[in-house]
Amino acid sequence: MSKLAIEGGKPVRDELLHAGFHGSSEIDQKEIDAVMQVLQGKTLFRFLAESAGHSWAKEVEDWYCEQVGCAYGLAVSSGTNALISALYGVDAGPGDEVIIPAYTYVATAAAVIAAGAVPVIAEVDASLNLDPDDLESKITPHTRAVVPVHMRGVPARMNEIMAVANKYELLVVEDVAQSNGGVYQGQPLGSLGHVGCFSFQQYKVITAGEGGMVVTDDRKVYDRARMQHDAAARFWEAGDDDEGNPLYDFVLSGENYRISELAAALVWAQRERLGPILERCRAVKRRAVEGLAGIEGITLQDVPDPEGDCGITLTFFLANPELAKQFSGALRAENIHCGTVHDKQIPDRHIYSYWPYMMSGLADDRRAPWKSPWYHGDVKGYSPDQCPRSLDYLSRAIMIFIDQTFTLQDADLIVEAVDKVARALL
Ligand SMILES: Cc1ncc(COP(=O)(O)O)c(C=O)c1O
Repeated sequence: MSKLAIEGGKPVRDELLHAGFHGSSEIDQKEIDAVMQVLQGKTLFRFLAESAGHSWAKEVEDWYCEQVGCAYGLAVSSGTNALISALYGVDAGPGDEVIIPAYTYVATAAAVIAAGAVPVIAEVDASLNLDPDDLESKITPHTRAVVPVHMRGVPARMNEIMAVANKYELLVVEDVAQSNGGVYQGQPLGSLGHVGCFSFQQYKVITAGEGGMVVTDDRKVYDRARMQHDAAARFWEAGDDDEGNPLYDFVLSGENYRISELAAALVWAQRERLGPILERCRAVKRRAVEGLAGIEGITLQDVPDPEGDCGITLTFFLANPELAKQFSGALRAENIHCGTVHDKQIPDRHIYSYWPYMMSGLADDRRAPWKSPWYHGDVKGYSPDQCPRSLDYLSRAIMIFIDQTFTLQDADLIVEAVDKVARALL
């Protein structure tokens, strides 16, 4: 057995294998030209651009509708604002509960609160996404919506989630921020629920630095989301339909989550990169998963639809948190960058127990929907240990990030390193 690098042996890889950014690391003349074109045109405001005959925001919306197969798209200024708009879209607000998974970026919970609803945290399962059984157990007469989040490129168990949602007539807002381009059983993520939300922030597969997208087939959801995303939404359109009837029987005051033409032009330029980036990541992950499958003592993450997985992370579980920590340390010494997901010493904004406005008790009563007079449910507050199964999975998980520069040889080296460490430690 070869000596572990952590004990002074030769590492499996000569240099550290460490994933970088996806879309932003590919930026080249295409993005520069797109932005320059907007600057030279001097029209930065999307509605001005639209009325002048061409808007990048509109192009991006149309492209997303085509990609995802939805009737309506709304480009916004961030993924968080996409979620808030979508929650307004499905009318989840004061008095309502919205179920979210224990493992998601802090903004998913913040969006629910911004919409005025009460976040209810449900466990994740071995897919590290929302557990459909726990989802069902968390439903109350106050539940209006559920937000399945497709974390780290891996699709959530959408068949089971949709079955529960349909049984209880819940509205489904998919959070696709981390899984742009992912697919579940042949259907693009974002098109399986009632409304889908994307982010173009820099850590995402394609990016404009900031930005987001809402997609839906439901005209009313779209209209409500659009009004929320722009306080002046009603001013940009004709007030009546062809017969002179008012277009809407509702009105929202809205805020301003509009995307700028500069960000939209960047997304437009990046769109062509999405497919090739995912193709390369998927090939690397497929190869690594094949190799890891035979290694005793590790359990691969349960991926509900491996074909649709974006391939941007590779995750496996060890028997207990101590072993996982020891294992990831040894793997890093072999020059394979990785880490455990939940480590009590390191606050992670993707794990519910660290969301400060819910866990600290410091939330201003007027801004804590669970304390609102509109709310008559049972949520009185939150506790860091309320989802023990999720914390258990996350503390036993080792995650390796993958980017498009990884080669199949890198995949083989990951397998070799995991095998080496497993033989020594397990
Ligand atoms: C799962 C998830 N949801 C929502 C968001 C919010 O997106 P943004 O940062 O664009 O507001 C992010 C990422 O940042 C995310 O990872």
